[in-house]
Amino acid sequence: MSFQEKLEKNIWGFIAMVAIVVSIGGIVEIVPLFYLDTTMEKLNKDEDSIHPYTALQLEGRDVYIREGCYLCHSQMIRPFRDEKERYGHYSLAVESKYDHPFQWGSKRTGPDLARVGGKYSDEWQIQHLKAPRSLVPESVMPNYAFLAEAQLDDTLTERKMHALKTVGVPYTEDDFKTAATAVHGKTEMDALVSYLQVLGTMVKFQEGRDYRE
Ligand code: HEC
Repeated sequence: MSFQEKLEKNIWGFIAMVAIVVSIGGIVEIVPLFYLDTTMEKLNKDEDSIHPYTALQLEGRDVYIREGCYLCHSQMIRPFRDEKERYGHYSLAVESKYDHPFQWGSKRTGPDLARVGGKYSDEWQIQHLKAPRSLVPESVMPNYAFLAEAQLDDTLTERKMHALKTVGVPYTEDDFKTAATAVHGKTEMDALVSYLQVLGTMVKFQEGRDYRE
């Protein structure tokens, strides 16, 4: 019996071999990304205003994750013409460098949100989240009116920032000290809207520049 035949008749051996082969493939594809300079684009000084989320934006991001917005919305504009015309400049890796975990997603029941920041007013966002069909009659998005009644828990914000700092987000002592007051008395709706309004606004794109260089 050949090695192949023996393997095909031994389910555990087969699973082990598949695992080995897949991990070799994974290592070859993934590991170099940690060492190649081109993995993350370099921004010029005047383009780069990428900063960690403020305390309120961070709480908003947590609401976004908790409510599963990513199940219907991606945050990843691909470098195709139709996407660029609809949503704006394609997403850069460097734009989500402080996102842990990132919210790229892959399901688009609704539109991509990578550059929704500044597209609508805060009032529009609040009304849309409370009752999407009052603004877009054909929408299938759920109502999130309860977020406007839900107070944020200000006791956890600073700890969340500390946790993010351990994975490389450069929060400062000042950020930690002001975290609780920054979210005190705010609702989950305030936080979510402030998060949505910052999405895709951190890079000042320059006409004609190729960011893949
Ligand atoms: C069941 C799928 C679904 C879920 C879950 C969902 N949405 Fe939507 N969303 C949609 C659809 C469909 C649209 C397009 C119609 C509309 O504007 O309402 C949309 C539109 C939007 C828009 C307007 C985008 C634009 O460019 O016009 C925003 C902002 C948005 N959703 C935010 C959210 C947030 C935040 C959450 C989580 C609290 C969420 N959505 C959850 C389906 C969903």
